[in-house]
Amino acid sequence: MKGIILYMSKHGSTRQYADWISEETGFPAIDLKKDKRPDLKDIDVVIIGSWILSGRMVAHEWIGKNWHRIEKKNVIVFSVSCDVPDEELSKKFLDASFPYEIGNRISFHSFHGRFRKEDQNILLRGMLNFAAKWEKEGDLANNMVLGIDGVKRENIKELIDQIKGLQ
Ligand SMILES: Cc1cc2nc3c(=O)[nH]c(=O)nc-3n(C[C@H](O)[C@H](O)[C@H](O)COP(=O)(O)O)c2cc1C
Repeated sequence: MKGIILYMSKHGSTRQYADWISEETGFPAIDLKKDKRPDLKDIDVVIIGSWILSGRMVAHEWIGKNWHRIEKKNVIVFSVSCDVPDEELSKKFLDASFPYEIGNRISFHSFHGRFRKEDQNILLRGMLNFAAKWEKEGDLANNMVLGIDGVKRENIKELIDQIKGLQ
């Protein structure tokens, strides 16, 4: 079985998950920013990872535009967010990122990401400092203000088991 991992990452947490999945499966990991039209010939499994920006996967557009190239394959998608993903949030990310015809056909996983205020630009840092004045502990904006690192290799276990089940 041939597979490929495609990802979009701004600060490295999505790339880290893509690299771990690559190590576990032997599939190559490709940065969609560098290669916007990877060769998908003879590929059976396409795994696509993307960070969440304002409640939506950044890769939603790429997936929409390239859906005709991947719709007949096994498509597994994972999101990476600084909010802690549970079933409800995962469904929100899925619904906000894809129309029903696509969302219904992909297998979706949500992983916890990493957020460091010092990685962000000055405008966003200012907004985060402002947000800090009223956010309560545990809320999304508070994670963004204090910073959070939920990137763990064990988070990919279910996805890896799923891929092994396809073989
Ligand atoms: C401008 C901006 C908006 C974001 N919006 C959200 C969001 O709506 N929900 C969320 O859970 N995380 C949000 N995040 C956090 C990122 O999804 C998270 O830090 C992720 O791990 C980044 O992935 P990367 O390291 O691969 O770039 C946002 C981050 C930035 C910079």
